[in-house]
Amino acid sequence: MNIIQVNDTEEMSSIAAEKMIDCLKEKPHAVFGLATGSTPEGTYRTFIEQVHERKLDITKLTTINLDEYVGLAPSHPMSYHAYMKQHFFTPLGLEPSQTNLPRGDAPDPEEEAQRYEALIQQVGGIDFQLLGIGENGHIAFNEPGTPFQSRTQVVRLTANTREVNSRFFDKKEDVPTHALTMGLATIMEARSIVLLANGERKREAITRCIEGEINEEAPASILRNHAHVTVIADKEALRDIS
Ligand code: F6R
Repeated sequence: MNIIQVNDTEEMSSIAAEKMIDCLKEKPHAVFGLATGSTPEGTYRTFIEQVHERKLDITKLTTINLDEYVGLAPSHPMSYHAYMKQHFFTPLGLEPSQTNLPRGDAPDPEEEAQRYEALIQQVGGIDFQLLGIGENGHIAFNEPGTPFQSRTQVVRLTANTREVNSRFFDKKEDVPTHALTMGLATIMEARSIVLLANGERKREAITRCIEGEINEEAPASILRNHAHVTVIADKEALRDIS
């Protein structure tokens, strides 16, 4: 595991964006696995600026997101479809056919999970996976206790995750109870992974990820079993690392 300590969110974002650009330059038909949330917003902004400035070709790029709330249609403002449209797809200029997220409004969410898992194989697997980390150590929506061999599935969100994510919703009760998420084994098949973490709120999770026991109670600790993982984190998040 390669660990890059940065001074602030801006530096984290520019290093991560540069890694995405390197991947795109090397492989114009790359498949990017993408996350939502507050953490990658700056990375997306910087990547988009750089693509436009350097006139890079994104017409062959494919994106495939980690997760979506069960019950939210793509048109719902709090859906991850809406987030990605706002922060990445529209400003970058991607065609809808280049982008993929699980459908939160699928009539049969279990079937949707299987379709999505198969889709990842169909697009040839993920070249570059961007991850954030939850305060409880989750990656995607793989909450503590999720089996390391899990594949894309429907999961129940913990009370902690619903509480933390309620900041994006009008009322706590509006936060969906379930999500569709890539599994831990699915994520581990990505050819390279970059995990971002900023701020004190992520300190405990990042310490367990980097130095704690590798076990299912700390989902992000599985990343230490991957040969090509880079953690880009600020001083606040890394403060307890020895
Ligand atoms: C989102 C996702 C989650 C977030 C995590 C951190 O697609 O997969 O695992 O990365 O909850 O969220 P933020 O960045 O909002 O702190």
